Formats: sequence, structure tokens, C-alpha cells
Amino acid sequence: MAETLGLTDEESDILAGDQGPGQQKAMAIVVALAKIYGAADLVPVESAQISGVSYKNLGQAGLEFLQEWAAMGARARIPATLNPAGADMQAWRALGFEETFIKKQRAVVDAYATLGVLPTLTCTPYQTGTLPALGQHLAWAESSAVTYANSVLGARTNREGGPSALAAAIAGRTARAGLHLDEARQPTALFDVRCPLASEADLGALGIMIGSQVRHGVPYLRLAAGLPPGADLKTLGAAMAASGAIGLYHIEGLTAEARGGTVEATGLQPSSIDSLRSGYHVLDGSAAEIDLVSIGCPHASLAEIALIADALQGRTLRAQLWVTTARPIRDGAVRAGLVSRIEESGGRVVADTCLVVAPVAALGFRSLATNSAKMAFYAPSHSGLSVRFGPLERCVEATITGRWRP
Ligand code: F3S
Repeated sequence: MAETLGLTDEESDILAGDQGPGQQKAMAIVVALAKIYGAADLVPVESAQISGVSYKNLGQAGLEFLQEWAAMGARARIPATLNPAGADMQAWRALGFEETFIKKQRAVVDAYATLGVLPTLTCTPYQTGTLPALGQHLAWAESSAVTYANSVLGARTNREGGPSALAAAIAGRTARAGLHLDEARQPTALFDVRCPLASEADLGALGIMIGSQVRHGVPYLRLAAGLPPGADLKTLGAAMAASGAIGLYHIEGLTAEARGGTVEATGLQPSSIDSLRSGYHVLDGSAAEIDLVSIGCPHASLAEIALIADALQGRTLRAQLWVTTARPIRDGAVRAGLVSRIEESGGRVVADTCLVVAPVAALGFRSLATNSAKMAFYAPSHSGLSVRFGPLERCVEATITGRWRP
């Protein structure tokens, strides 16, 4: 652990207030955290991704905190993006959101905009133009995006908190600690996954099992049967980060630092995973009737939206369907004719939000089916919903029949 934190002249000047009280406050937060982590110095970051956007979670105190910081003149000095908000900011009325909630939510997004943060409202910035490069230092907060950036892309970020990511955006720096350092990126637990992985739900169940076993650390996976066809690794990392405090994992031969031998699992005793049953047991509940089906956690890609449109084949839906995604992806899906195909069946492609951060209890839903392990893990406690969990085909079937096939 470093005994003293080394600051550049510019950092010291900002800390002394030379660039105004808003910048000073940001630097003070970054410096305080760097001291807590025992960092030797600060590291410049290329982008920030900020959580704590939904008014449902922030409340009035959080909104006023942002407004006060904005009034102090603080502005982001690097590209900074926002996590999902508590509602679709365009289609909120049709979806049943209260206008009073929307007014507060708009005030939150406006405060962030004044702070210089782009109102992207997505947990998958890497799907919409912020694609970090190998070795780039970041200050990202959304846990699923953090695992994706570190593991799949080989960028470097800790799991920042919402205020610390905002402070890093304004200061342009974060503590050089944790996953910014080579030594913290080495595997701490080795898993031989011997069972087949057939779907995105299987990947999610695996992620939940590994996250809850490792808790804090860096899992290294050897997959005997490889990945499911067309697999998107965002679902695996999102699940690990939900059940454990995982910010980085490696898959031998596949992920950024485990492809070229940058990291190796030498000296670790392997644990075998022969079945995903315990993961499904944690995630899948007992509801028979389904009110709502949610696909798109993390936010859906254009390819996933196309899969859903194809799977629906114009059939009428008994349960509501929300496909949650980023606004630019939705716009692309409109242009590709996918949104109209999903809407013809009665489904919705919802932008800017998701069911975990939206006030869904007020919308009257009681039961949910999803193919997302992260959503299934959080929805019972965050939204009070009874959850069924399974692959996309089962979820599509549930939205058509209104029932979960046992
Ligand atoms: Fe994203 Fe919401 Fe899931 S923020 S990762 S869609 S819980």
C-alpha cells in the first residue's frame, strides 16, 4: 500500500480550488477514495459511465445533490454516459408511468446534462459507440458494463459507485488501484465447466453460480463445450456481478487477456461445474401465470431484437412483452422494421430504462418471465415480482400463452 498519494501540479491546483468549487469537489472525492484504496497516484481515464439515474433510486435528496453540484460549475472533462433512467423518456405515458415521476426523472437527466454527461440512458454503452480499447483506463459504474469492459474488451475499470464515477468524469481521473493494476487482474479461482452451455439462460445460471462462489476475486473459466451459438458474453458477466462483487473474469482462449496468455491460471486448484441446476434453482420461481415478459437485461442489441421479432412471427400476445434497449438501438430497430413487427404482436420495444430501475410495482405487474439471470436475481427484491427464468424461446412462448410451461 502506498504511504502517500502523489498528485501532479494540475491535480493539486484543482484540489486547491483553482478551477472552481465544482471541480474542487470532484477532485476531493477522487483523492479521498484514492487514499482509502492506498493508491500511489491517480490515473487519467478515457470515459466515465455513471449509475444512479433512476429517480426511483435517487429520490429528492439525490436530485438536489446533482443540482447543487451542477450549480457549482462542475463539468465533465471526458466523455461521460448515463445508466438507464426510471422510464422510457418518450413513450412513458403509453407505458403507464405517472407524470409526476417523469417530471422528477427529467430533472435528474437535466442536472446530469448540465454537468456535461451525455443522456445515453443505457447499461450497454459498448453497443452504442463507447467501445473502449484493450488497456484503456475507465471509470465505469454499471456492474454489467464493468465486467464486459474488463473481461471481453480488456479495458481497466473498477466498479465505481455513482458519485465516484461522476467525480471521475469531472476530475478526468480515478484512483490507480484495484483492476487498474496488473496484479489485481490475475485469476484467483479456477473453474472447469464440464456441462454444455446451450443458451443465454445457461450462461446466466453459470454466472450466478460463479459469482456467489467467488464473491470477491477474478474467476478463470475453462469451458469444455465452448459457448452457445451466437452467445453474447454480456449476460455472463452481468450475472456474476449480480451474485458476487465480480468486476473481471477470464475465459481461456476467448476473453481479451486469456487469449494471448496475458493471464494464466497456474497454481490454482480447479473446481468442477457439472450441472447448472443450482443456478436455475436460485433464479426460477413458481409463478404459473405470467403478466410480463422482459428481454434486454443488459440492454438488447439489434441482433437480439431481430431474434425476438422472428420468434414472435406476428402472433398475438397474452402477456405483455417489454424488450428493453438503448435509444439508438431502438431507432435502428425502427429503421429495420423490427419494432413494427414486435408491436403488431402487441409487444413493446422500450428505450432508456429497464424493469429493475423503473417503478414497475406502480404499473400493476405481479409476475415476470425473463431470460436474464441478472433480472431474475434482482426483480423479486427490487420490483416485488414473482419471476420465472429460462431461455428466450421459453420466454417468447410465455408471452404468447400468458403461462410458464412447467
Ligand atoms: Fe441494465 Fe437494468 Fe439489467 S440497468 S443490466 S437492464 S438491471
